[in-house]
This record gives sequence, C-alpha cells and structure tokens, in this order.
Amino acid sequence: MIDLKAAKILDQQDGLNSFRNRFYHGEGEIYLDGNSLGKLPKNVPEQLDNVIKTQWGKQLIRSWSENWLELPERISKKYGLLLNAESNEIVFGESTSVRLYQILYALLQSKQYPTHLISDSLNFPTDLYVLDGLVKQLPKTTLSTITYSQEIEANLEKLKQLIKKKPGIICLSLVTYKSAYCYPIKELNRWAAEHNSIIVWDLSHAVGAVPIDFKETETKVALGCTYKYMNGGPGSPAFLYLHKDFHLQLENPIQGWFGHDKPFEFNPKYTPSNGLERFNNGTPPILSMQAVEAGIDLILEAGMDHLRAKSVQQSEFLLNAVNEVLLPLDFSIYSPMDSSFRGSHIAVSHPQAWQICQALIAGGQGVPKIIPDFRPPSYIRIGITPLYTRFEDLWWLVNQLQKIVSSKAYLNFDDTKRDVS
Ligand SMILES: Cc1ncc(COP(=O)(O)O)c(C=O)c1O
Repeated sequence: MIDLKAAKILDQQDGLNSFRNRFYHGEGEIYLDGNSLGKLPKNVPEQLDNVIKTQWGKQLIRSWSENWLELPERISKKYGLLLNAESNEIVFGESTSVRLYQILYALLQSKQYPTHLISDSLNFPTDLYVLDGLVKQLPKTTLSTITYSQEIEANLEKLKQLIKKKPGIICLSLVTYKSAYCYPIKELNRWAAEHNSIIVWDLSHAVGAVPIDFKETETKVALGCTYKYMNGGPGSPAFLYLHKDFHLQLENPIQGWFGHDKPFEFNPKYTPSNGLERFNNGTPPILSMQAVEAGIDLILEAGMDHLRAKSVQQSEFLLNAVNEVLLPLDFSIYSPMDSSFRGSHIAVSHPQAWQICQALIAGGQGVPKIIPDFRPPSYIRIGITPLYTRFEDLWWLVNQLQKIVSSKAYLNFDDTKRDVS
C-alpha cells in the first residue's frame, strides 16, 4: 500500500477537493458513512435560520405564497437536471417507504400489468416489507422474491427468466444497500417492457452516487431518499419520479388535499391534480425540504460525471489496499470488483466485524476516530462520498483495520453488547 504522504498528494491533485470545505467536519474524525447519512453542508444552518426566523417567525402564513408553495417545484426542477427528467415528473415528500407503497398500490390497481410483484434478496428490507404488506392487503396480488447463490451480485439471467415467465411489477434497488451491486438499468427496463412488466427503481443508494439518465435508460418509475449522498439531513423528504405517460393513468391510494387539483378551493369532492402532484398527500415538510436544496446544488455544481470518476478512483484505491493488506488478515471483499456494476460504497467482511467497527470508532492516541457502517452479520460498509472523502481517509481506514486486527485490539470491545450500539 502507498504511504500517507502519497495519499495526501492524490488529495492535492483531486479536482473536487475544494468541495470538502463546504461541509462541516468533526475534529480528529473520519466519516465513511455518507452512504447512510450524508454530512451537513455549511450553508444549511444559515438557510434554515432564515426559513425559521424570518419566513416562519415573521412572515408566518404569508410565507406559503411568498416562499413555500414554490419550494417543492424548485427542488424538482433541480432533481430533473440531475436525472434528466422534466420538473413535473418528480415530486418530493414522504419517506421512500411511503412512496413505494403509494406507487406500487397505484400500479397494481391500474391493471396495466399483471398483479404479480417481483423483487430479490438484495433489496433493502423496507422494500421487501412493503411488497409483503401489499400482498396481504390486495388478495389478487402475488409475490416472487428471488434469492441468489451469493449475496454480492444479482443473477441477471435468473431475474430475466422469472420476469419472462411471470411478468408484473418489479421492485429493485439500483445500487444494493449491502454490496453496492449496481444493476444494468437500461437493459432491465427494456427487458421488462418487452415482457409486459415495469420496474420501480429504488435509488436511495444510487442518486448522487452514480450518474443516472432517466430518458436514456428508459426508466418509468423511480424513488429514493435524499439523506445519503444527497446530504439532505436526517429524515429529509424522499422523491418520486414517474414518467409523464403514467401521470393520468395512476391513482394515489391516499386522497390527501395536496393531491387535489385545486387544494385551496376546499371542495368537499376529491378531484385529483392532472399531473404528478396527485401523488402528494398532505402539507409538505418545509424545513427538511429546504435543507435538501443545498445538497442538490452541491452535486449539480460538482457535476455527476466528475463525482463518479472520483468515486471509481477512490474505490479502486481502497480495493487495491484491501487486497494487499487486509485479505491476509481474514477479511474478504463483499462488493463487485467491476466498477461498472458497483455504486459508491465498498463492503468488506470479517468474522469480528462488529468489534472491529467499535475499535475504529473509538480511535486512539494520534489516531483519528473512523466512522464506518456495520451491517449484520459481519459486514463493514465504507461509504465513498466524493464531495468530501479524501484518499487520506481511506489510507487511515486500511491502516487502522490492519493494526486493530493484527494486534487483536478489537478484543477490548465486548461482542455481547452488540445490540445496544
Ligand atoms: C435502498 C433503501 N430503500 C429505502 C430505505 C428507507 O427509506 P425511508 O426511511 O425513507 O423509508 C433505505 C434506508 O437506508 C434504503 O437504503
């Protein structure tokens, strides 16, 4: 592995290195968990302060017409630039789980596709729970969840054959939460369309991590959270993308007033909006929606292609170091090796992963605290967030993993306390 000095030189050569200064960082701390909760952009407190003290504090109800009603549309427009969609094809609000339920329910009720749901074991649990719940609630709905012989990558042939044999509505995470496997989105969208099926993509680990072009990839439905690579803050609103051809064909199962064609006429009869706004439910969460905007602006300013190039370079740097230094210490790599099938995090596995994570987080004398992500039973996820991750951070990580495992320093952390972490 190269030394720390060489890693620092790579940071100096990094064309995106100035973006790091646009975020808050903890002193003596390395954060490698941006794939779970992204960092706070520096201008967010000021923006929120204005929304709270002036818009809410002084202008009160007048702020709806002066600022707040236009906010969701402004954010949708910016997301449209990022993902190549029209601004009226994206709405913000709710959590990913709620959005997934709404759109799957609507697709199932529309009868445009067979009422058969498909997912796989690489998907995030909430997606699988929502699918399972729909099967319980809608008696004609069936579900197939594919499992593969390993948990790193999908078996595309198996997936395609199932879609061919039992078409319907498929739900997949474009970048999977554990291994970061990234599906070939266009190939699968086409396959689905050719077989009377549609794919609902969960982009929670993908948006801001890999470039996505909805038009080019022929994507019809997508959704995801904004608190990971988009740095929108805890519980920031999810987004829902629906191709315009579907807007009038699908009905929101929650007929809330913000989905009404004319919400402020207070008509007792529900008439859905004639656009994607029909998928809105209630009052938008203005404070957290405001916080999302700064993160989107930063991604747009840096450029998704530049971010991706850095993410791949840093992932290769990390994988090479893991290969050289950590594989002999009982670690194994739990992510695809080919970058075209990988998002922006790397998972490694070790039998003592939880204790090792605690040792990393504790840090030590002259050693930074390093915050990765533990996923049961034995995975350490390392989130590469090219807006602020440095090569130096990855160097420290590998160096510390080596020391903690070879010295058995992880034994200082009691494995039986695991479930209170
Ligand atoms: C792929 C994926 N989907 C959905 C979620 C949960 O989203 P929400 O909490 O917004 O419902 C997560 C959370 O980490 C996730 O990783």
